[in-house]
Amino acid sequence: MKSVIITGTSKGIGLQTALAFARAGYKVFATMRNPVNAVDFRQKIQDEGLAITISAMDVDDDESVKSCIGAILLQNGPIDVLVNNAGIEYHGSIEEVPLADFKAVMETNYFGAVRCIKAVLPQMREGRSGCIINVSSISGRVANTPMGPYAASKFALEAISEALAQEIKPFNVRIAMVEPGIIDTKMARDIATSGKSIYPQVNRFGGIFEAMLKNPTPAKLVANKILEIAGSGTWQLRHPVGPDALPTLGWRARMNDEEWVSWHAASNKEWYKAVRLPYKPDPTQGE
Ligand SMILES: NC(=O)c1ccc[n+]([C@@H]2O[C@H](COP(=O)([O-])OP(=O)(O)OC[C@H]3O[C@@H](n4cnc5c(N)ncnc54)[C@H](OP(=O)(O)O)[C@@H]3O)[C@@H](O)[C@H]2O)c1
Repeated sequence: MKSVIITGTSKGIGLQTALAFARAGYKVFATMRNPVNAVDFRQKIQDEGLAITISAMDVDDDESVKSCIGAILLQNGPIDVLVNNAGIEYHGSIEEVPLADFKAVMETNYFGAVRCIKAVLPQMREGRSGCIINVSSISGRVANTPMGPYAASKFALEAISEALAQEIKPFNVRIAMVEPGIIDTKMARDIATSGKSIYPQVNRFGGIFEAMLKNPTPAKLVANKILEIAGSGTWQLRHPVGPDALPTLGWRARMNDEEWVSWHAASNKEWYKAVRLPYKPDPTQGE
């Protein structure tokens, strides 16, 4: 029976990923900060008879990661797959977001993943087998205001993943990045309802999320892509997921850097006119 460690499984994409792997016959180690709250999840595990063990792990904390993954490896032996899913999101203008939030998002989305990678890698390298899947984001490829603090953490995750891929390929260990667009989870819904700033970009950005969430892309879509990557043996590094993912990448690729900056710096009227092209439904519905 193949085994997987998944971080951040209390809700959203992580929860769906744990269920998807277990239903596909994996032994799942579902980690989360507060297992005591996982009442519905435990019930589902029991109802469906799934091979899921829940354990406490805060990816921000060196000791928590070391002891949790150490105990899993001791109990299970080598792990086949690690999914770094745990993440947080802070956005706003660079001027207004507190420095503590920049640090917090980096701690979870970047250092959290690095911590978990370092905990499983020796065993994968020695066994010449394994797969690491990092849940990045389209914001790991495209930086736009007001996602600066979050995008920085996902760009960092993408950089380390690309470099790591080069180191571990000779040991037959795979790494992949999943790059979701806007997915229907608490994280995206919080973005849709937030935003008051002296910068107009912050105030208008929630409209895109609100519009996308009127025709929501479920977290299961990302979960199934992660499962597919683990099972397929693919060496493809980047996997955009969701109906808006490739259009967003294409939209950025069609502009040079200066056009990209000027367009985001444009007035609300000009910006909404341009944003209709890659996004449906019309984000002005969220104005
Ligand atoms: N939703 C989207 O549109 C979207 C798009 C692109 C990428 N993503 C990425 O997808 C991943 C999952 O996000 P989501 O949309 O499913 O959001 P979510 O519903 O807010 O879930 C985030 C998960 O991460 C956990 N988490 C946060 N900090 C943690 C920490 N220090 N240690 C352990 N777990 C921690 C949360 O646990 P608690 O319950 O304890 O807070 C929760 O289980 C993230 O990496 C996110 O950046 C999401």
